[in-house]
Amino acid sequence: MAVERTLSIIKPDAVAKNVIGQIYSRFEQAGLKIVASRMTHLTEKEAGGFYAVHSARPFFKDLVSFMTSGPVVIQVLEGEDAIAKHRDIMGATNPKNAAPGTIRADFADSIDENAVHGSDSAENAAVEIAYFFRTIELAPRTR
Ligand code: TYD
Repeated sequence: MAVERTLSIIKPDAVAKNVIGQIYSRFEQAGLKIVASRMTHLTEKEAGGFYAVHSARPFFKDLVSFMTSGPVVIQVLEGEDAIAKHRDIMGATNPKNAAPGTIRADFADSIDENAVHGSDSAENAAVEIAYFFRTIELAPRTR
């Protein structure tokens, strides 16, 4: 298995619930290292650009509105098989279908306010990491 990097977002609902630390602990317990991190309040343009692939979907407007409704915490996670591992601990998109013990099962209330985002492929991870972080913020860790 290869060491990968993936883009993760703690969404406004989870930030409002005060569970940033609990979610970070789950990343660390799963063996994922936080190698870049930033709290920000996304603009409509930033959120719309990030979710551009969904711009024709009926939920797009509400998704952008939700993602700009409060601060988010954005991080790059690194580890063996990080993309799939992160998706596993997030749980299914709809928290009703998320396995017990996953982040979405424990912290999300609905499919549209579902606590976390995680890249779903190596290609998307590269694009999403570059969308939010500059090269200098992503230097390889030497220790
Ligand atoms: P998607 O890429 O399908 O899910 P995931 O976040 O698990 O990769 O959808 C992106 C986000 O769009 C999802 O996290 C929440 C929102 N969304 C809705 O609000 N309603 C929906 O019916 C779907 C499918 C997604």
